Amino acid sequence: MYNDKIVEHFNNPRNVGELKDADAVGDAGSFKCGDTMKLYLKLKDGRIDDIKFQTFGCAAAIASSSMLTELVKGKTLDEALQVTNQDVADELGGLPPLKMHCSNLAADALHNAIANYREGKQAG
Ligand code: FES
Repeated sequence: MYNDKIVEHFNNPRNVGELKDADAVGDAGSFKCGDTMKLYLKLKDGRIDDIKFQTFGCAAAIASSSMLTELVKGKTLDEALQVTNQDVADELGGLPPLKMHCSNLAADALHNAIANYREGKQAG
């Protein structure tokens, strides 16, 4: 069902965990399955200097979260906002159609974190 790249990210997810001194925190949940994701950003000179995630979800959601963190690390917030669910799925070599919604968690949590930061909401 999953290609090798997805399996590899699921088995060795990048940037898992929590950033205690995060500048921005976002979350997202899937109405379809109830899975959730929390994303932490640390910013430096207007760029994403560090990023970590906690995802309670399926293999596709965890692989998507891992891939998203790799895609946006080092980007400005505006650049990071350009990254879509489809970009994440494409970078993973494609997700099975029934699992496309799982890739939404990662981009949604990122967009939520950036919106919270821009609205001045406290991280935590
Ligand atoms: Fe819930 Fe994939 S089945 S995120």
